[in-house]
Amino acid sequence: MSEWIWMNGEVMPMDEARIGVEDRGFQFADGVYEVIKLYDGKPFALDAHLQRLEQSAGGIQLVVPIDRAALACEINKFTVRSSVREGMIYLQLTRGVASRNHIFPPQQRPTLLFYARTMPTPQLPGEGEGVKLITVEDDRWKRCWIKSIALLPNTLAKNKAIAAGADEAVFIDNGIITECSASNVFAVINGKLVTHPVGSKVLPGITRAILLDCATALDIPIDERGYVEEEAVRASELFITSTTREISWVARWNERYIGQAKCGPITLALHRALCRKVVEEISG
Ligand code: PDD
Repeated sequence: MSEWIWMNGEVMPMDEARIGVEDRGFQFADGVYEVIKLYDGKPFALDAHLQRLEQSAGGIQLVVPIDRAALACEINKFTVRSSVREGMIYLQLTRGVASRNHIFPPQQRPTLLFYARTMPTPQLPGEGEGVKLITVEDDRWKRCWIKSIALLPNTLAKNKAIAAGADEAVFIDNGIITECSASNVFAVINGKLVTHPVGSKVLPGITRAILLDCATALDIPIDERGYVEEEAVRASELFITSTTREISWVARWNERYIGQAKCGPITLALHRALCRKVVEEISG
């Protein structure tokens, strides 16, 4: 069955969609993106994703060419048509086609596209072996709050992790843990949920924000601060979060085991709270 894509207001089969060679996304990585989870054929936390899209676009002096409510409506209609039940929407916005020049073109004709894809349901955090992390130097730029399509440092880090037999790479910036190549990272230290603040070095993850709300509702104390590797490996629990993986508990950090080498109670409680939010929103 052919996949469909929404591109600049038109829906077409994926294999008929064409992007210009001089699209600035292709030549300059001049664009931003979003990944939105589909549960039972419905996008989860769509408004938060579209809000972050506007923020990211603003960070590169680009305006989303369609207002939030209209874009949400297009995504909802498209999702129904795509018939993907469990999966994700990948959405990308670039500055569009213009004669190659570092200077932004005076007339902007952005390229906006999205498509849906089926994905395996993530493992429950209590199941399976837990993920293994390796550490890598954080050599990214200082605008990590922008969900930029320029992902080379992230892909290099992720591939290094996979080559080392691990699942994810944790970025360390001058000794401080920031986030992972495609997820945010949390530690439970002395009963507190510790995670680096968002901003220049950390993407404001949607899953991260939802979990911090859940933690507050569950009376789990939160400490948003930078922390060092030695604190992480001594933490009672560690986990990573993203739209596609939800929550994955961390079993190993480089060669060291974390906590009791099993998924901890705070990780499980937060995952249950996230599941409740999903059910509330999707069935509501
Ligand atoms: N990545 N940090 C980075 C660098 C990320 O790339 C992601 C997500 C996150 C988690 O953000 P969220 O909870 O909003 O998904 C944190 C997506 C899933 C990706 O690039 O595929």
